[in-house]
Amino acid sequence: MSDLSALPTPSLLVDRARVERNVARMGARIAGLGAALRPHVKTHKSIEVGRLQAAAGMRGITVSTLAEARAFAAHGFDDITYAVPIERGKFDAVAGMNAAGTRLGVITDDIAVPGPLGEAARQAGVTIDTWVKVDCGYHRCGVDPEGPALAELAARIGERTHLRFAGILAHAGHSYQARGAAAILAVARSERDVMVAAAGRLAAAGVPVPSVSIGSTPTAAHVDHLDGVTEVRTGNYAFFDVTQVAIGSCAQEDCALSVLAAVVHRDTSRGKVILDAGAIALSKDTGITDPDGVTHFGRVLDLEGRDLGLRVTGLSQEHGVVGVGDDALLTRLGVGTLVRVLVNHSCLTAAQHAEYVVCDGLQVVDRWVNHRGW
Ligand SMILES: Cc1ncc(COP(=O)(O)O)c(C=O)c1O
Repeated sequence: MSDLSALPTPSLLVDRARVERNVARMGARIAGLGAALRPHVKTHKSIEVGRLQAAAGMRGITVSTLAEARAFAAHGFDDITYAVPIERGKFDAVAGMNAAGTRLGVITDDIAVPGPLGEAARQAGVTIDTWVKVDCGYHRCGVDPEGPALAELAARIGERTHLRFAGILAHAGHSYQARGAAAILAVARSERDVMVAAAGRLAAAGVPVPSVSIGSTPTAAHVDHLDGVTEVRTGNYAFFDVTQVAIGSCAQEDCALSVLAAVVHRDTSRGKVILDAGAIALSKDTGITDPDGVTHFGRVLDLEGRDLGLRVTGLSQEHGVVGVGDDALLTRLGVGTLVRVLVNHSCLTAAQHAEYVVCDGLQVVDRWVNHRGW
């Protein structure tokens, strides 16, 4: 065991106790609301965090890449939904994973997909769970929940002998535009109600809907009930981040991920320091502009995790610019001083790093691999 001050910089730190607490809380919350939790592992891409989520009572996982699917399948996770719309370049890989014993479901909002997907499944001798992706208000992808495409697509899937219509699935990404508990609750209710109503219309048209799947961290943190919803796919909650704090999904003390960085330059005349954590180490996600109008790339904490009241306001590839107005603080932040940056978007930052340094206080207690790539 070593301590954080011996690590190279930049390093990606994860606070084990906070991850365990976040995962346990969401597991209990969704179970208490009567739905199954199918965590989105895109946030962490880590087998160890997946195991913590399994221990907290999840049912299956959600992935955003086939690399995640392969890595988790290789470690015994055999019930997976690939929640980016499927296209023909991936049919054989998905069919192959199903043939090898992983139940790997896919999503689509395209009427031209079920035919050739069903054929790939038939040739591989498997049945692929196929969800209809519904647009519950985010307007990224998905069929209109009130339009004819929903029933047509469900029927087209149902006609294929080697596809199983698994249900309808949506992600309320627009919850990230909401500010504060009441606004997020409104999005959460509409995510749920739009999907439950869509399932009701399908059922009334003679198409039974085996599952209704929704999920985003903000909406799951605030939703008041989940009647009619069968599963929730939250991802970011494992780590949280500055954005989730800013919109009101969690407290800063819940944020489990930070980037350890060193001061590499101090400019007393301009009142700033430069960190060796730039766009590659942090990602360029600007998150939510602070109430004072400052847009930034993360908050700066000291090595022990105390908020210094500073922000990373500029980035180049390997440099992070931190304005320091306070002279005493500037004196403290000499070249070589270690700080932690609490990032805006933990999913994007984590994907920049090959491994997590797992810590308990200031002690390094483990290393976890991040299964990146596609
Ligand atoms: C399809 C889908 N489902 C679930 C999630 C999880 O959302 P969150 O990270 O807010 O929990 C995402 C996130 O991007 C997503 O794209």
